[in-house]
Amino acid sequence: MLVCQDVTKTFGGLRALDRVSLDVEAGEIVGLVGPNGAGKSTLLGVISGNYAPHSGRVLFDGQDITGLPPHQVVRRGLARTFQRSRVWPSLSVRENVALASRASRDPLSRRNILGVNRGPIGTDARTGAILQRVGLSDLAPLPARVLSYGQKRLLEIGRALAGEPELIVLDEPTAGMNDRERAGFGEVVRPLAAEGVAILLVEHALDVIHECCARVFVLDFGKIIFSGSPSAMVTNERVVSAYLG
Ligand SMILES: Nc1ncnc2c1ncn2[C@@H]1O[C@H](COP(=O)(O)OP(=O)(O)OP(=O)(O)O)[C@@H](O)[C@H]1O
Ligand SMILES: [Mg+2]
Repeated sequence: MLVCQDVTKTFGGLRALDRVSLDVEAGEIVGLVGPNGAGKSTLLGVISGNYAPHSGRVLFDGQDITGLPPHQVVRRGLARTFQRSRVWPSLSVRENVALASRASRDPLSRRNILGVNRGPIGTDARTGAILQRVGLSDLAPLPARVLSYGQKRLLEIGRALAGEPELIVLDEPTAGMNDRERAGFGEVVRPLAAEGVAILLVEHALDVIHECCARVFVLDFGKIIFSGSPSAMVTNERVVSAYLG
């Protein structure tokens, strides 16, 4: 579903990404970890069209999307969340999702991952199904600003789901969640993967990586220094000295 080939991105003299290659299959949750400043968010920015890479390619579902602007990438079925919450604080939880539906991709090309009949975009049934998915049904009428930080992160995932994406790219979705919210996070993303959605998960919480991911990539100073299982990662010497140690 996603292939990054030799992606390099520079900011002035800084090589934020140095020939990064990774892939995510349909139905897979792949972890992306690494120290602060390693280049994780930059890679998500390249994948989602926020940054054009200096060199290298991004393939989505077999098609070259390198350098396409974000709105075109979204229309093809790729959704992302950002490291900082971007919910609309004065709109209700429900409206946040309904509006994201309206702004999302061409409904005819969507897969029905929510298991509800496709009415017009933004209908109550679709929005309700999404809110249930992310565990926010009870809070639907409240303004988003009253949500806890962790609930806002879940709402962002709900907004990403509104386009029924084939690939979701999540930037530290559990950052700021309390223990209970973090423990429930796997229950939100694993069912999506079970339905064939590909998920790339940037995450510092290793318990979440262990719970959700069969494969993980480790980025350090813009380079991939490890790829493999989470259990192999925690005993890998290079990973331990660069990140875990
Ligand atoms: N827009 C930008 N302009 C200049 N430098 C940038 C820009 N964005 C990121 N960088 C630099 O690129 C490097 C990678 O940053 P990035 O935000 O991708 O790291 P990260 O792995 O997401 O870190 P964190 O875990 O703190 O979120 C850092 O050195 C950062 O300072
Ligand atoms: Mg980041």
